[in-house]
Amino acid sequence: DFVEGSTPVRQRLLVVANRLPVSAIRKGEDSWTLDVSVGGLVSALLGINEFEARWIGWAGVNVPDEVGQRSLTKALAEKRCIPVFLDEEIVHQYYNGYCNNILWPLFHYLGLPQEDRLATTRSFQSQFAAYKIANQMFADVVNEHYREGDVVWCHDYHLMFLPKCLKEHNSKMKVGWFLHTPFPSSEIHRTLPSRSELLRSVLAADLVGFHTYDYARHFVSACTRILGLEGTPDGVEDQGKLTRVAAFPIGIDSDRFVRALELPQVKDHIKELEERFAGRKVMLGVDRLDMIKGIPQKILAFEKFLEENPIWCDKVVLVQIAVPTRTDVPEYQKLSSQVHEIVGRINGRFGSLTSVPIHHLDRSLDFHALCALYAVTDVALVTSLRDGMNLVSYEFVACQAVKKGVLILSEFAGAAQSLGAGAILVNPWNVTEVAASIGYALTMPPDEREKRHRHNFTHITTHTSQEWAETFVSELNDTVVEAQLRTRQ
Ligand code: G6P
Repeated sequence: DFVEGSTPVRQRLLVVANRLPVSAIRKGEDSWTLDVSVGGLVSALLGINEFEARWIGWAGVNVPDEVGQRSLTKALAEKRCIPVFLDEEIVHQYYNGYCNNILWPLFHYLGLPQEDRLATTRSFQSQFAAYKIANQMFADVVNEHYREGDVVWCHDYHLMFLPKCLKEHNSKMKVGWFLHTPFPSSEIHRTLPSRSELLRSVLAADLVGFHTYDYARHFVSACTRILGLEGTPDGVEDQGKLTRVAAFPIGIDSDRFVRALELPQVKDHIKELEERFAGRKVMLGVDRLDMIKGIPQKILAFEKFLEENPIWCDKVVLVQIAVPTRTDVPEYQKLSSQVHEIVGRINGRFGSLTSVPIHHLDRSLDFHALCALYAVTDVALVTSLRDGMNLVSYEFVACQAVKKGVLILSEFAGAAQSLGAGAILVNPWNVTEVAASIGYALTMPPDEREKRHRHNFTHITTHTSQEWAETFVSELNDTVVEAQLRTRQ
């Protein structure tokens, strides 16, 4: 903060992310509904209020006409959001293609697409070209709104080209970039045809942040091995210019969840759910319907548990909320049918006339319903095959002050590094191990549950999204801009 007279003025922060915290749905020529977007990035960033923040990003909708663009810009301005308008072709090539069919699976260790090699190469090139065009479109909007003294914080794998675009335009701009996914081992990153160009673009930033120390280390190794640059304890150095690289584990706004549980409507909802599930333990999964979340593996482990412990068949229910996401990408469509098929088979096998073991919902819940569901849960199951952090595990812990339920957590989620001592850690690929952990969690003695919960609750309430953002931005403010460095030399 800086002071003008005696009035403290909050620093202006331009948060740039592919997706705005609200997504727009068109209701008429110039009328819009704005819904809160889903995903870890949005949950974390919603908790930031220390800064005079403006959001720049895509509202998730194609608006080809000027009337629509003007009216949406106005509607979003009330939420301090500034839209970047992407046309259908760019969305197809940049968002569905390069971001979600190439970078997302690669960064989660699922490899590059396996289709016919020539076709892949051709589509790869055009998708990468679209990625760069899209990043430049984000840069143009940032440049239009940037004022001297602002800090610019770019987010995620969609915008790896953005730091370079911004610095080329204004080398004095403070630019940070943060990745919300894992950064994979350099051996994985090496397979990407545009590996060097992307690394160099990110290195144009002043500060580069990751959720865990491992991801930061992988990034530095990629820069040393692929670009031949020097890795230092502080980051990566290229001809005297240091790009600082560090880990900044994200958190949630835990108070928002704790406060919600005190609301009469949430309390009523908790009562309803308790009556509905009376006599049964509740297990819960909340995920975007994404390959990386390990939903089939989770459900198969639950099936194995029921198979080996038939006594539990009418005493436990698994509620799986699977929020549809990226539905234009074929891999996601396949996953949806696969999950439906497994759930149907298991419910047919273990269900009765009056109940089924799995309640599977293909949609998101509103915030209050979600809090109530977290609160009545006995065991939460997070079985990501890879996950940058996984904030569902944090949200669950935030709502468990009364019940002190158990968290089963994948060791491949970033959260395993912070909640590992309180959770039961599992390898989600090992269905036998997950099934055994379900049995252990369901019968865990209260004093052990209490101890584990206390550990996790202390962590999530002391490592909040607010603190995460403050730490990142304050380090960004402390970095020396390239121009100053050159003057000093
Ligand atoms: C993850 C990504 C976010 C993304 C979110 C939802 O959390 O890290 O950048 O916004 O998923 O995905 P979507 O493609 O719907 O924006």
